[in-house]
Amino acid sequence: MKYPYLENKNILIGVSSGIAIYKAVDLVSKLRKMNLNLKVIMTKNAKNWVSDQIFSAVGNCDVYYSSFDVKGGWIPHTELSNWADLFIVAPATANIIAKISCGISNDLLTSTAIAFAKESKLIVPTMNVRMYENKALQRNLKILEADGWTIIEPEVGHLADGEIGKGRYPDNDRILEYAEYLLCKKDFLNKKVLISAGPTVEKIDPVRYITNRSSGKMGYELAREFACRGADVTLVSGPTNLTAPSLVKNFIPVESAIDMEKVMVTYSENSDIIIMSAAVGDFRIKNFSAQKLKKDDVLVLELEKNPDILKELGEKKRENQILIGFAAETQNHEEYAKKKLKEKKLDMIIVNDVSRKDIGFESDENEVIVYSYGEEYRLEKNHKRIIAALIIDYVYNKFC
Ligand code: CTP
Repeated sequence: MKYPYLENKNILIGVSSGIAIYKAVDLVSKLRKMNLNLKVIMTKNAKNWVSDQIFSAVGNCDVYYSSFDVKGGWIPHTELSNWADLFIVAPATANIIAKISCGISNDLLTSTAIAFAKESKLIVPTMNVRMYENKALQRNLKILEADGWTIIEPEVGHLADGEIGKGRYPDNDRILEYAEYLLCKKDFLNKKVLISAGPTVEKIDPVRYITNRSSGKMGYELAREFACRGADVTLVSGPTNLTAPSLVKNFIPVESAIDMEKVMVTYSENSDIIIMSAAVGDFRIKNFSAQKLKKDDVLVLELEKNPDILKELGEKKRENQILIGFAAETQNHEEYAKKKLKEKKLDMIIVNDVSRKDIGFESDENEVIVYSYGEEYRLEKNHKRIIAALIIDYVYNKFC
């Protein structure tokens, strides 16, 4: 995954003594691979689980744990809190949450927390389920939220002590998506954005189907970018191997083109911006067999046309609604794209060359041309997240 809004930023990770501390090592390892500056603070008890040397080696960064490690005029808690653009406390124990929520500052991590005056601060509570449900802990989390901390809720599942419940350290990608959210401009705040992504699936019988090669990556990156920039995103997706972006409020999985049509039409009524990036199958099986077909059956698949969802959305389009399509082409890109732009009553269309192996479909990269009326915008080959960000910048400048 790519996190453009973390690039060149100063990121401070505060580590307390949760057993999930080994997952914070992975967080630091992920951050190290990005183009940013990293520092770590550990509590004294955190060092009972993991050596500071591990964080230092994995993160290629300085690790601090003493408030008294003063160098000249360099006072650790004020300098580190000043330096950081983003402060992530992960894992956060019940103890550290209690201390920060009531302003106790008796070690370097808590003193830095009290001195950190920016809004970009994240905390990741991780503990046993009964501790997590404890009233004092819940009360303290509410205080932290009111004090401007973004709290990443723990996941439900197997806990270190063998119990099952809420308290698991979340996926690090989820933490990083929230981290980006705190650092990114919010130019789509209050905009409702509807995006379709992935392939559709048309059943032949209970075990077989026809589909296409769409991975859904471009649509998911558009959804991730819009949500990061403050939009209220609904993502309607055919089956993919991807995890829905954490910041997407409404994720609706669908299978067939008919399913997708129903959902898209329903949600379109309330949407400001609609993007059809799904590779909708043009045909479905007319003679679906409710029983599994046997190999000795004489098999003739009859196909019937699926609805053109985008065209239908174009016909229903409200004033001030922005409707964007994709065009998957192997030849005559400009001619075919401009025809679709006009015939489907779109505001703009994004063309993919699906004959190229190095971009499109399963690839993490893409290269596209955007056409709107009288305008052409070429985007050089880049990561799909960057392509998504550039497309969205274009939408903002042209329509918002
Ligand atoms: N689309 C749609 N419903 C369909 C087919 C396509 O909504 N049944 C949308 C796609 O999501 C895309 C745009 O229409 O945004 C263009 O899709 P594309 O596959 O490039 O073209 P088609 O319209 O299917 O036409 P053709 O297959 O002839 O190129």
